[in-house]
Amino acid sequence: MRNIIIAGNWKMNKDMISTDEFCNTLAEYFSNYEDDMVGVIVAPPYPFLQSASDVLTYTPVEVAAQDVSVHKDGAFTGEVSASMLSSLGVVVCIVGHSERRQYHAETDDIVRAKMLELWAQNITPILCIGETLAQRDANETNAVIVAQLEGCLKGITDISDLIIAYEPIWAIGTGRTATPDQAQTVHAMIRSWIFDHYDKDAAENIHLLYGGSAKPENIGSLLMQKDIDGGLIGGASLNVEQFIAMINTANEILNTRRDK
Ligand code: PGA
Repeated sequence: MRNIIIAGNWKMNKDMISTDEFCNTLAEYFSNYEDDMVGVIVAPPYPFLQSASDVLTYTPVEVAAQDVSVHKDGAFTGEVSASMLSSLGVVVCIVGHSERRQYHAETDDIVRAKMLELWAQNITPILCIGETLAQRDANETNAVIVAQLEGCLKGITDISDLIIAYEPIWAIGTGRTATPDQAQTVHAMIRSWIFDHYDKDAAENIHLLYGGSAKPENIGSLLMQKDIDGGLIGGASLNVEQFIAMINTANEILNTRRDK
């Protein structure tokens, strides 16, 4: 049975002090929690990765980066390499977020190259894919998702260390969440694509997260869907109480799944 993952993508938010406050509250929460837990990931901006990791050391929370350079090292001002992340103990990294694709011209080829850099350092990529509103309205959702999967995973034969996040662009930061049915339909399609292009184990084991205006009020109905294995949460992950509320909901759902 797949675990549920609750991942917070802070984007370009928070500073040193608010990072510390958030992580201390989260660490305190985990010090009181004994049951088996859902997987929890937080992705602060680069400058706060180290301090977040320090505060969260004795918790099950994994600290993730939001991006990585496509280059190994050298004269690339402002870039951060996978080996630098690895030297900080980072084990998860978001790649291909729609904001990177939109504002930094990231193509599927670039995203793929970034994933290869991450795998070389044993860092798990969270690969983001998703369609625009115009593409959805034109009934192109499946074609767009398949093209992104094909482009990003071209020639990659082992996806045992990969998380995929389906993030419809029209739902990101807009308050307009995909309905549980809409999200489930795409997640099921992604899983069956993986079954067809890899194998049954890969399809059964991969975590497919949903992202796009997920929040405490709607995370439960999303996580009740068979192929939704967690959330990649932006806005609502910035508030530690809301983040913890989503972890609690995910735990309840995980426990009902285990009872079945
Ligand atoms: P949102 O962002 O939850 O603020 O919509 C999600 C994401 O971009 O990962």
